[in-house]
Amino acid sequence: MKYGRIAGWGKCVPQKVLTNADLEKMVDTSDEWIVTRTGIRERRIAGEGETTASLSVAAAQQALDRAGIRASDLDLILVATSSPDYLLPPVSSMIQDRLGARCGAFTLVAGCTGFVYGLATAQQFIATGAYKNILVIGAEIISRNVDWTDRATCVLFGDGAGAVVLQASETRTGVLSFVLGSDGSGAEHLMMKGGGVVMPMSQRVIDERTHYVRMNGREVFKFATRVLARAAAEAVEKSGVSLDDVDLLIPHQANLRIIELAARQLGVPMDKVFVNIDRYGNTSAASIPIALVEAIEQGRCGENSTILMVGFGAGLTWASAVVRLGALEPPRFAMWQSIPGRARVRARVAMGALSMRIGALLLPLYARVTRR
Ligand code: COA
Repeated sequence: MKYGRIAGWGKCVPQKVLTNADLEKMVDTSDEWIVTRTGIRERRIAGEGETTASLSVAAAQQALDRAGIRASDLDLILVATSSPDYLLPPVSSMIQDRLGARCGAFTLVAGCTGFVYGLATAQQFIATGAYKNILVIGAEIISRNVDWTDRATCVLFGDGAGAVVLQASETRTGVLSFVLGSDGSGAEHLMMKGGGVVMPMSQRVIDERTHYVRMNGREVFKFATRVLARAAAEAVEKSGVSLDDVDLLIPHQANLRIIELAARQLGVPMDKVFVNIDRYGNTSAASIPIALVEAIEQGRCGENSTILMVGFGAGLTWASAVVRLGALEPPRFAMWQSIPGRARVRARVAMGALSMRIGALLLPLYARVTRR
């Protein structure tokens, strides 16, 4: 059995910050309403030239660098998004080309739960032994699909991308269990009707603004509070670890009240829950991978941490996974892994000092040679 270790991780968010104060000038809303109802204070919005592919490539490059592999080492690229650059070609192929990878690539559409669906899918290719290195990306430029005159939706979303490299490993790491769910009977509650096959792009679609995201917030809220905790608990049960063993809960960042309620229903204290919705809003399929990257960067989780991911979104869909982080350093530093804890730090400092010494010794020699 092969496990899919998270060998690399990366994120990219646009530079441009849109604050609640900015939104107050655009629609009839207030910072107070947005913060108390959602927990969002600001979000990132893609600028001119930024696309789902460009954010994905930047996030993916970081993930590849951290994994210590090249794009040409990839066996598969899987991109979860509901806001691809074009309807055709699939954005996954554009990303494969820009990265310089020579492997299969496909785009997965499962709303905000897409990244967890992607992780679970990638894990299957690794478990069967078919592939060794898989890049999983969650990326959105949802701001281009949002009606900036509709206060019920435009305050909620933001843009960004997160990526991980899953690498085959013999140690029990990566996706330990997952739950994937769908209930299409609730489809109408979160939809972009115009621009598809049923309502192709037309003047009427534009006039009625049906090509933008429309949402019945209350219904989606009710749905989320119904499925989140249950899906998370199911994944924990399937994983064989106990909820107490979970070091960090990384929920989809859609609404702070939904996150707090799910944590309460699960019995997980908020200091074990990762929240960054205040800075990014709901970045849909990018929200969990961006949160994962920040959680690692902030030391909220690390080597051998057990993480519980759970999300919900358009479809309506939900997904959860228990993920164990393995060694977080690229294999080229594998030698260091064999040295335990503090000794490793000391060894590294010694190596650094030694290389500086050698540099200092070689410098006069180099100066003499170049003077000639
Ligand atoms: N600023 C000010 N008022 C707003 C507003 C805004 N941005 N958006 C809506 N309102 C108003 C409504 O018009 C309504 O006014 P009314 O009572 O006069 O009709 C009032 O605020 C309450 O609206 P309601 O929809 O009941 O608010 P809520 O407490 O349910 O919060 C959401 C709205 C959208 C924040 C909340 O329903 C939610 O987060 N739902 C889940 C959405 C989600 O997660 N979507 C992503 C899925 S991946």
